[in-house]
Amino acid sequence: MSIAHSPLRYPGGKNCIFSFVSCLIAENDMLGCKYIEPYAGGAGLALRLLYEEFAESIVINDLDPLVHAFWCTCVNEPGKLIEWIKETPVTVSIWKQCKEIIRNPEGASPFEMAVSFFFLNRTNVSGVLSGGIIGGVNQTGKYKIDARYNKAALIQKIEKIGRFSSRIEVSKLDGIKLVEKYKKYRADTFLYLDPPYYEKGSNLYLNAYKDADHTRLSEYVSTLSTPWLLSYDNHSFIIDLYNAFEKRAYKLQHSTSNKIGDEVLIFSRKISFDKSLAMLREPLII
Ligand SMILES: C[S@@+](CC[C@H](N)C(=O)[O-])C[C@H]1O[C@@H](n2cnc3c(N)ncnc32)[C@H](O)[C@@H]1O
Repeated sequence: MSIAHSPLRYPGGKNCIFSFVSCLIAENDMLGCKYIEPYAGGAGLALRLLYEEFAESIVINDLDPLVHAFWCTCVNEPGKLIEWIKETPVTVSIWKQCKEIIRNPEGASPFEMAVSFFFLNRTNVSGVLSGGIIGGVNQTGKYKIDARYNKAALIQKIEKIGRFSSRIEVSKLDGIKLVEKYKKYRADTFLYLDPPYYEKGSNLYLNAYKDADHTRLSEYVSTLSTPWLLSYDNHSFIIDLYNAFEKRAYKLQHSTSNKIGDEVLIFSRKISFDKSLAMLREPLII
């Protein structure tokens, strides 16, 4: 089981490829690098690389304004977030208030947006905003609203993020814009790109890429000289886009459904990965 450092539950979260990515960083003599995730989501992998000193600093970028609001609050105001968690009961009534703030955000402060998103992420089925409340509105299900809301554990995770905050940068750019910033070769910088899935993206996240966006991203990363790694669902459209690059297929086992997902890793030209591949032999639990 992978160690989860993120306070968010994230469909498709890539914490599970930590062993592979950490080996890759070591194999390429990049220990202590600046690690950048243009599509960071739950950022579980980034946090673990930081905590275990594979990265000296990390960039958590996500275009989704709610995801961004959450990370800003978590990194810049961890104490205020922790107080809110301590004081706020985990009830259907609070769930409804949070839902309403997300549905009708006019007049809501960034902090209110952040905590509403966080609360729904922890109390909705699979952590998806459209997923519906765990246990149902009448709480008649087997699991109840607080099944994934262990206050003490969540507070510990947020406290730790607070302790590392000077080494975490948060931004809300389009992923491609962020990539553009790292066009020039930087020996100490590593980009891991995990864009919305080609096939399932639109059901899981607020922002989804269309064919033209996936194509545009491939054109941008193809010109990058800074080393990068990209992950996707294994689809012929994506394979064709990156035909000039080395790729390796691997399997992810979704812990909620036990379904095996076919994914692919795509490597920039300057990266060596032979030693790290051993970490991808078994299906990785997501
Ligand atoms: C596959 S998820 C990333 C999951 C992440 N690697 C993790 O481990 O949790 C894709 C993320 O891209 C974000 N996203 C979608 N479109 C984007 C864009 N144009 N620019 C930046 N982020 C975007 C979504 O909000 C979502 O969080």
